Amino acid sequence: MRETADIETRLLLEAIFHRYGYDFREYNVSSIKRRFEQHFKEDKLNSISEMIPKVLHDRTYFNELLFDMSVTVTEMFRDPELYRIVRERVVPTLQTYPFINLWNAGCATGEEAYSMAILLHEEGLLSRSQIYATDINMRSIEIAKRGIIPISRMKHYTDNYNKAGGTRSLSDYFLSQYNGAKINNALKKTITFSGHNLVMDGVFAEIHMIICKNVLIYFNKQLQNKVLKLLTESLCLNGFLCLGDKESLEFTEVRKYYEVVDKEAKIYQKKFPF
Ligand SMILES: C[S@@+](CC[C@H](N)C(=O)[O-])C[C@H]1O[C@@H](n2cnc3c(N)ncnc32)[C@H](O)[C@@H]1O
Repeated sequence: MRETADIETRLLLEAIFHRYGYDFREYNVSSIKRRFEQHFKEDKLNSISEMIPKVLHDRTYFNELLFDMSVTVTEMFRDPELYRIVRERVVPTLQTYPFINLWNAGCATGEEAYSMAILLHEEGLLSRSQIYATDINMRSIEIAKRGIIPISRMKHYTDNYNKAGGTRSLSDYFLSQYNGAKINNALKKTITFSGHNLVMDGVFAEIHMIICKNVLIYFNKQLQNKVLKLLTESLCLNGFLCLGDKESLEFTEVRKYYEVVDKEAKIYQKKFPF
């Protein structure tokens, strides 16, 4: 038998879908439930069920909840090994293209997209690259657009950058401001940040590399397959899909279209038309 809080979570997700069209019904229930539980306690309610009428009748309440439903934790050069492998095993192919479209799906507050821009710059590819960085959480996208990193994070990010094979000093890419470090404008200009819902929105065309890390873990198997189809359709032939070490294409419906580039970092190359 399901726990009451699981049932309440599912009912609230149905309410959100029918009232606002946002479909979280195939997300991993336990992580969403934890977020709801935190929310109702902060709102001094007694249960997740008590959130249902508030969500249905109060758009502002729903918007607040929506922003809190996604885990937007991220870092610059998070999992540095992946960036090192991209330099070694992906960049040589990208170098053969006249222009490069990169899609960072589930970019949170932008640190991953800025890291990729720095890598492409150091590999001499940035001037012919366009980076699309998207997320369902519009509050994160607004933060990403500002491109300001808290000074307190810079030491950790510098360690990551060095482990990721950075060839300069990370601080070269930032201007110091009273409230943080502001990313260089030239890097910022190559990135288009926008809202995009992987569950409900359409494909991107002719993408050469997709980086989608720590996003699929929040979805159930069925939804992972649906989203992976969208990513596969968006990639051009020989395009790269970088999932990072927490996720994998093994046992998914799209596995047959790819060859493995690196099995630890979960980097794949699309070898067959979808
Ligand atoms: C844990 S963060 C990962 C950030 C970054 N990729 C990283 O690895 O550091 C997960 C991100 O996925 C986003 N996300 C969740 N569901 C999504 C969806 N349906 N469409 C687009 N982004 C989504 C969240 O808003 C959040 O910013």
